[in-house]
Amino acid sequence: MTAPAYDAHADWYETYTRDVSVFMDRVRGHLADLLGPGRGTCLDLCCGGGAHAATIRGLGWTPVGVDLSQGQLRWARGRLPVAAGEATGLPLAGGAVPAVACVLAHTDLPDYAAALREAARVLAPGGRLVHVGVHPCFVGAFADRSDAEKITIDARYADRSHTFDAWAPHGVRARVGAWHVPLADLLNAVTGAGLRIERVAESGPNGIADLFAFRARKPVTS
Ligand SMILES: C[S@@+](CC[C@H](N)C(=O)[O-])C[C@H]1O[C@@H](n2cnc3c(N)ncnc32)[C@H](O)[C@@H]1O
Repeated sequence: MTAPAYDAHADWYETYTRDVSVFMDRVRGHLADLLGPGRGTCLDLCCGGGAHAATIRGLGWTPVGVDLSQGQLRWARGRLPVAAGEATGLPLAGGAVPAVACVLAHTDLPDYAAALREAARVLAPGGRLVHVGVHPCFVGAFADRSDAEKITIDARYADRSHTFDAWAPHGVRARVGAWHVPLADLLNAVTGAGLRIERVAESGPNGIADLFAFRARKPVTS
């Protein structure tokens, strides 16, 4: 089990998500667009403080959160039912949920491919998984975003090791670090979990994407 790195930063993260509300609104826009309306449980995987519970509920789903960090779950409890758990070993039966959403968390996991395989296990056949994350090509220690008009990528794009190097010195990654997941690894993780990508979206300021999102589906027969 990975260490709950957010316990020491949960109160800060709660304030931070409000400080970056324009960014978070765009995150929620992708989530709402790709998840779409539905009924039944939507697992909010790595739910953190539950910042997206209202969006999921507003679409008709019943959000249920799982997160490793008790500090984060303290905030989440007022927003949705939660369980403490590990993304690669979820406290759910196989095929239990029709939807899973994982938002802004893939760079927190040492093995996102394993988390997607576990998400695929708990998804019912025909169920959907929505991923919203920082853009794998344009956000990370390897991407110099100091010029609003252009981004410079360096050789660290290929480096998958955990790092506290961060393009935003006062953001999340300078506190908890990140595992970079290059684009090919991310897409191969989806197909490797037996999921089929249905739609992809990206967005960002000045036309330079900082978010990458997709909806994938568990086939009815695999
Ligand atoms: C950047 S926060 C995102 C929280 C929330 N999804 C949001 O968008 O605000 C990443 C979350 O992933 C959780 N996390 C990291 N590793 C995890 C793991 N192995 N299993 C479950 N949760 C994990 C952290 O505790 C943290 O709350």
